Amino acid sequence: MASLLITNIKFLAGTRRENSLLRGKELADLPGLEDAYLHLEDGLIADFGEMKDLPAKLLKSIPGMNASGQMLLPAWCDSHTHLVYAASREEEFIDKIKGLSYAEIAAKGGGILNSARKLNEASEDQLFQFAWERLQEVSRLGTGAIEIKSGYGLTVEGELKMLRVIRKLKQRSSLSIKATFLGAHTYPLEFKEDHQGYIDLLINEMLPVIAKDKLADYIDVFCEQGFFTPEETETICRAGSRYGLKPKLHVNQLNSIGGIKVGIDAGAVSLDHLETMNSSDIKMMGNTSTIATLLPTAAWFLRMPFQPARQLIDAGAAIALASDFNPGSSPSGNMNLVVSMSCIQMKLLPAEAINAATINGAYAMELEQEVGSIMPGKKANIILTKPISTLAYIPYSFGSNHIDKVMIGGEWV
Ligand code: NIG
Ligand code: FE
Repeated sequence: MASLLITNIKFLAGTRRENSLLRGKELADLPGLEDAYLHLEDGLIADFGEMKDLPAKLLKSIPGMNASGQMLLPAWCDSHTHLVYAASREEEFIDKIKGLSYAEIAAKGGGILNSARKLNEASEDQLFQFAWERLQEVSRLGTGAIEIKSGYGLTVEGELKMLRVIRKLKQRSSLSIKATFLGAHTYPLEFKEDHQGYIDLLINEMLPVIAKDKLADYIDVFCEQGFFTPEETETICRAGSRYGLKPKLHVNQLNSIGGIKVGIDAGAVSLDHLETMNSSDIKMMGNTSTIATLLPTAAWFLRMPFQPARQLIDAGAAIALASDFNPGSSPSGNMNLVVSMSCIQMKLLPAEAINAATINGAYAMELEQEVGSIMPGKKANIILTKPISTLAYIPYSFGSNHIDKVMIGGEWV
């Protein structure tokens, strides 16, 4: 599609003329126009405005599409996923229903190690095919930009295989994609008693190849009791930064053990999860440019307390929302559900949730120049809703699909 003029949009949300990361109270301001038009050109947003100001020559010269009754918003920016995996884990889902905890399942060789076993058995082509299908699914649900992690390989070959799959997704897909190296997801069994041995493998065998082949944009560590200590996290972040990989970390999911301070000191782009936060953790997130990425569907799936979103906003934090799409703690990449759940359970206002899942999500992937708002020059990544009464109807009416069409890079998906 070279150019398109969408007219009579009931409400055009997320219109911005400049970029800024939204913190604290700013999150509640979702700019938009009623009865609007949107002009797209060569896969990018050219301009927008109110129908009454639509230049007559535009209307005459460009193919039009009438969106009467429909609303339009920027496509979701999902800044934390693990969507490359070999197999689902519903057997553990049943164990959890019967009473085992996430940590207990992990301790008996389930969880991440279970996924790693299956991933190392799968071929690169198979993995690509599975991941491609998941990517297609989430794009139909409105996701236009996404971060994808490794971390189910836990061997040199397995981690590189995952990262090559992500690179191929980047090459073939019109979504904006960022890759994160999460070799430090858990200790493989053979290194259970030899943490230093695995860290050496990460730093000396994996990182140099990843950097040489430009296979990752970020580095991640699961900083958690029974996984990686804050000191180990710091060592791994430092090694990553020697190769130009900034951290985006898993911290404070199950316990508050110091990951936030380590992450902020290491210049993390985002600190993610944050289910378990004490008052000093909240204060630190309020005073840093590091983004607090909240993953409500993971908290929900694991029956954990939801992230303290209101307290973080009150402290002045910049929050983003993401799906955490993975087979163990969030087997869904549906950002509509994430937005809805954050409103229902974490008391975000719909405007705050939409901002956190669009422009702040874009910032959490350093893609704010490219996606996350309706701004001239950004990619034509948009969600066109079915006819709805107000934007709040999307999170309110949580079980239904309110999307009519999704466009990514100027093409309808
Ligand atoms: O973000 N917590 C660590 N990693 C993933 C879950 C991984 C898994 O269980 O497979 C998460 O929740
Ligand atoms: Fe995760």
